[in-house]
Amino acid sequence: MDGINADLKSYIETNVFLKYDSEKVDDGHKLNHVKYVINRSLLFAMEYNNQNPNDVLNLDKVYTIAAYHDIGLSEVDRSIHEKRSAQMLLEDENLKQFFTADDLHQMADAVEDHRASLKTAPRTVYGKIVSQADRDTDARHFLKRTYDYRKGVEPFCSNFSLLKDDIKKHFSDKYGEGGYGLTKIWFPDKDFDDFKATVQSWIADDNLLTQELVDLIQSDKTRIKSSNGVSRSSAVDNVFTMTNEVPDSSTGYVL
Ligand SMILES: [Fe+2]
Repeated sequence: MDGINADLKSYIETNVFLKYDSEKVDDGHKLNHVKYVINRSLLFAMEYNNQNPNDVLNLDKVYTIAAYHDIGLSEVDRSIHEKRSAQMLLEDENLKQFFTADDLHQMADAVEDHRASLKTAPRTVYGKIVSQADRDTDARHFLKRTYDYRKGVEPFCSNFSLLKDDIKKHFSDKYGEGGYGLTKIWFPDKDFDDFKATVQSWIADDNLLTQELVDLIQSDKTRIKSSNGVSRSSAVDNVFTMTNEVPDSSTGYVL
């Protein structure tokens, strides 16, 4: 990570990252997610600086904004975490040795603006960078999150066809033509383009989506069995029930 102040980086790695280990932070927002957002943020910023040599962004700010963007999850509920993250950045006295008061306020605004559900565009380029960097670009991960949300819920947990159609509708609303997930892209993003192409191929081809979903349900079933098969919740039982009704896409037979 060339170009980042070594003392700042060391301070954040030693004192800030550990807050993401908190039990309050869900698995999807632990340190590996933050590092993903840092890496993507720096890529966007360096590309922006190449394109705008007279208006270069400060990479120390970009790095720190990304490092802090979800830190509020260690203390508060997801619905207000971006505001708490911004406050925590401003409350960190140690950051004053690296940034001016104006810098810190600009950085806090960017952190507060990072959520995809924000009605307006982020106020600054720094906010746009962290917002876009925060996007998931792993199509199977997106499918899994969408499935996990439905797997214990009737009627989806007992009817494969309804489950698949509901997932497809969600994909289509978000990433189909005119989908709400296609807005708020400001920087060239090959990973997002590849992600979008994969999700759109699943929307267009029912067989592809069926195959992906069957594979996912099977691996879920294997994972649950291998975690020694005890203390299965009713949601998990429902997965088993449903899996018995899932067509094997390679043979056409019920599994
Ligand atoms: Fe995030």
